[in-house]
Amino acid sequence: MKIRCTAPKDTVPKTELVASFAFSGSRAPDLGKGLKPAVDKAKKTGDLSQSFRKVSLFHPDLKAGPKRLLFVGGGKRSDVDAERLRRMAAVVQQQAEDTGVGRFQLVVHAEDHKGIDAFRVGRAIAEGLMLGSYRYEPPRKESPKPRKATNADLVYRGGESGDRAAFEAGVALGTKLGEAVNFTRDVENKAGNLMTPTDMANHAKDFHGSKVKVKVLEEKDMQRLGMNALLGVSRGSVQPAKLILMDYAPKGATRTICCVGKGLTFDSGGISIKPSSRMDEMRYDMCGGGAVLGLFHAVSNGLLDDLEEPVRVVGVIPSSENMPDADAQKPGDIVRAMNGTTIEVLNTDAEGRLILADALSYAVKTYEPDYCVDLATLTGAVIVALGHEVAAVMGNDDALIDELIAAGRDADDQVWELPLWDVHREQCKSKFADIANINGAGHGNGSINGGAFLSYFVGDTSWAHIDIAGTAWGQKPKDHYRTGASGAGVRLLASWVRSLGTPGGDDDYEYEYEYEDVEE
Ligand code: BES
Ligand code: ZN
Ligand code: ZN
Repeated sequence: MKIRCTAPKDTVPKTELVASFAFSGSRAPDLGKGLKPAVDKAKKTGDLSQSFRKVSLFHPDLKAGPKRLLFVGGGKRSDVDAERLRRMAAVVQQQAEDTGVGRFQLVVHAEDHKGIDAFRVGRAIAEGLMLGSYRYEPPRKESPKPRKATNADLVYRGGESGDRAAFEAGVALGTKLGEAVNFTRDVENKAGNLMTPTDMANHAKDFHGSKVKVKVLEEKDMQRLGMNALLGVSRGSVQPAKLILMDYAPKGATRTICCVGKGLTFDSGGISIKPSSRMDEMRYDMCGGGAVLGLFHAVSNGLLDDLEEPVRVVGVIPSSENMPDADAQKPGDIVRAMNGTTIEVLNTDAEGRLILADALSYAVKTYEPDYCVDLATLTGAVIVALGHEVAAVMGNDDALIDELIAAGRDADDQVWELPLWDVHREQCKSKFADIANINGAGHGNGSINGGAFLSYFVGDTSWAHIDIAGTAWGQKPKDHYRTGASGAGVRLLASWVRSLGTPGGDDDYEYEYEYEDVEE
C-alpha cells in the first residue's frame, strides 16, 4: 500500500474513485470546485449519510473524472478525534478495495477537524488506511488474489499556513507506523512452527544496516553469562533459544533506553501444561517481542531521524519455546538467574517472567539505560482486570509510568496503571530460594505478581512493565483491526520514544512543506 500527498486543484480529478468524510450539518463535503456540482447533486438525493462510519457511494454522471464518489460519515464535527479519523480512514480503504479500484483519492478538509492539530489528523488518517488494508495471508494452496486499492492520494484542503506541511509530516509518520504495525501483525499471526526463535532472530537480522546493529546471543553465550532462568524455560524444546539485540545508537545521543519484549514463540505451559482448548493461541505469546521488532522496523525506516535530542534505543528480545519433555524443567526446580537471584519455579507456565528475568538483567547491566520498558503477554489475569482495549503498566518510576500513559493516549494504543508496591514484592519470597515465580494461592493479583517478580531484575534502573496479554490479540473487530494479532505496543513505543526526543511534542514542530505536483 502506497500513500502520497498531492496538491489540491480545482479541476476534476482523473482518479477513478474520490472519497471524503461527510460530517453532520448543512455544509457539503468540499472536493474542490470541479466536483462541486456532483457533490451537491449527491447531497440533494438525501442518501448522503453523515452518521459515523456510514458509507454512501454515488456514481456521478461525468464525462471525464471519477466514476465513483465515496463518503464515509463522521458524525458531529465536535465529536471527531484521532481514533474516529483512524476508523473512518480504514472504512474508506476497505470500501475502496471492495469497489476494485487500484488508486483512489481521499480529500481531507481542515474545517472538519478544527480541534485537532493537522499533524495528528495526517498521522491518524495514514494509520487508518494502512491498518485498514491489513489482511493476514495464510499459507494456502492457491496464491492470494492481487490486492486492490493499493495507492491512495491524500489531498488536504483549507487550513492555515503551515497546516498542510504538518498534515503531510503526520502522513509520513502514520505511514511508517502503519507499515511497522502491519509487519508486526504478520510476524505475530504466523503459526508456532513457522515463527520459531530462529525465525524471530532472522527477522531482526533483516534490520541490520547503517542505522541499526543486530546481534543474536546463542545458548552457549547464555550459559557463559549465567542465564539459567531463560535456559531453564528452553530446556524442554528442541528449538534453540535466542537473545536478540537490536541497537540504534545515533550520533549525539545522551540518553539510552531499552525496550525488552517477551518472545515466547509457543507456550504450552511446559510440565505445568495448559488445557488444550485454545492452546493454539499461545503462538501469540511472542507479541511483546513482536512489538519491539515493529519498533525497529519503524526505526530502520527513519522513525527517529528527525528527533531534536537523539536517543539511543536498544531492543532486547528473549525468544524461546515452552514445551514439556523428559528434559524439561519441573515444578519446584531452582534456577539461578544472571543477576545471581535464585528462583523457585513453582509453575513452569509462569515462564515469561523467567525469560524476561535474564533479558532484563542483561539489559540493565550491559547498557545501563536511563529507562527500561518491557512488554509481555505475561498474564491471563490482565484480561480479567482490564479487558482487551487497554494494557496494564506498572513499575518503579511514577514519572515514567505517566509518560507511558500519555504516549498511549497520543497513539491510541493505551495503557493504564496497576499498583506495584513493597507488599507485592514481599509476596514473591520463597522458602527454598530467593523468590518463587508465582505467589501462593489466595493472593489473587496475578498481573501485579508478574510485575513484582520482574522488579527483582532491574536493580535501580527506572523501569516499567507493560502486560499486553489482553491487547495483543482477541479484540472485537473495529475497522483498523479485523482479527488475530493487533500489533499492540508498536505505536505506543514509537510515541513514547519520539516524545523523549521531541521536548515540545510533535504538534509544536515547524514543518518544511514541499510536495511533488503529480498527475492524478
Ligand atoms: N502466556 C501466558 C499468559 C497468557 C495467558 C496470555 C492467557 C494470554 C492469555 C503466561 O505465560 C502464563 O501462562 N501465565 C499464567 C501465570 C500463572 C501460571 C501464574 C497465567 O496467566 O495463567
Ligand atoms: Zn505460560
Ligand atoms: Zn507465556
